[in-house]
Amino acid sequence: MDNLREEIEKLKKEKNAVVLGHYYQRGDIQDVADFVGDSLALAQWAAKTEADIIVMCGVHFMGETAKVLCPDKKVLVPDLAAGCSLADSCPADEFERFVKAHPGYTVISYVNTTAAVKALTDVVVTSTNARQIVESFPQDEKIIFGPDRNLGSYINAVTGRNMLLWNGACHVHEQFSVEKIVEIKREHPDALILAHPECKSAVLKLADVVGSTAALLKYAVKHPEQSYIVATESGILHEMRKQCPNTVFIPAPPADSTCACNECSYMRLNTLEKLRDCLRDETPEITVDPAVAVRAVKPIERMLEISARLGL
Ligand code: 13P
Ligand code: SF4
Repeated sequence: MDNLREEIEKLKKEKNAVVLGHYYQRGDIQDVADFVGDSLALAQWAAKTEADIIVMCGVHFMGETAKVLCPDKKVLVPDLAAGCSLADSCPADEFERFVKAHPGYTVISYVNTTAAVKALTDVVVTSTNARQIVESFPQDEKIIFGPDRNLGSYINAVTGRNMLLWNGACHVHEQFSVEKIVEIKREHPDALILAHPECKSAVLKLADVVGSTAALLKYAVKHPEQSYIVATESGILHEMRKQCPNTVFIPAPPADSTCACNECSYMRLNTLEKLRDCLRDETPEITVDPAVAVRAVKPIERMLEISARLGL
């Protein structure tokens, strides 16, 4: 294991490569990454890196976002099969028909989409900035929001908007069970419930704090004396426990399983071995059709500009 880490460090230097990791990655990958963050932070780091190679330890759409922002750089992912059920729930051709059927609507898309869907979008959002970006439009703006119906309903509820929602969802966050969370809460009555807005509204109603992975982490770091039931992909517990070693974090379990935590099978496809191989062989590489990229970059840059203005 130590050898593997040393090899990764050596290859990073040799090739002027930067390794970016999402909070849902395996702990050992988070530990070797140069930066670990949520979807917004990964896009922000990709946009400003001076490295020649970006290795995106996350899922395919995250690699695509980096490639669209940095077309002249080589963007690698350790396992090209690391997809996303939420991005898959929004095929570009169907989304295009939906957008065309609603002329006059502003199209806001969650970052968990393919570059082809982003190319049909006016502004991209992540769970960190979705509320503020939606609120940056006039109250009566007609908005299509896709693809996550749970995040969309949550933003509708907190902003009083009536955005038209695409009917997509993440198979991991949909899995959380109200019954199992209530059961854990009964055993740990003082624990606060932290939930990601990709969870169903019944789960969000139970939550004390709703936010992106970065927002949930930030809350825990600010209140380490609390204990927490965490309703998002369990990879985030690695950084939570690192930053708050004396805090109790209990992963919320999925509904139809005996497993204690809820893992994204796509995120977990990346391993240290695959990361070493991908740095060594400079493959698999993310490619995006330049005609798509030239349109997809605009809504991503618009998101980065608004986020910078808002200090996010
Ligand atoms: P954030 O990184 O924005 O919290 O989103 C979580 C997610 O589902 C990434 O796939
Ligand atoms: Fe996609 Fe859900 Fe996995 Fe995030 S956790 S990458 S939204 S499938």
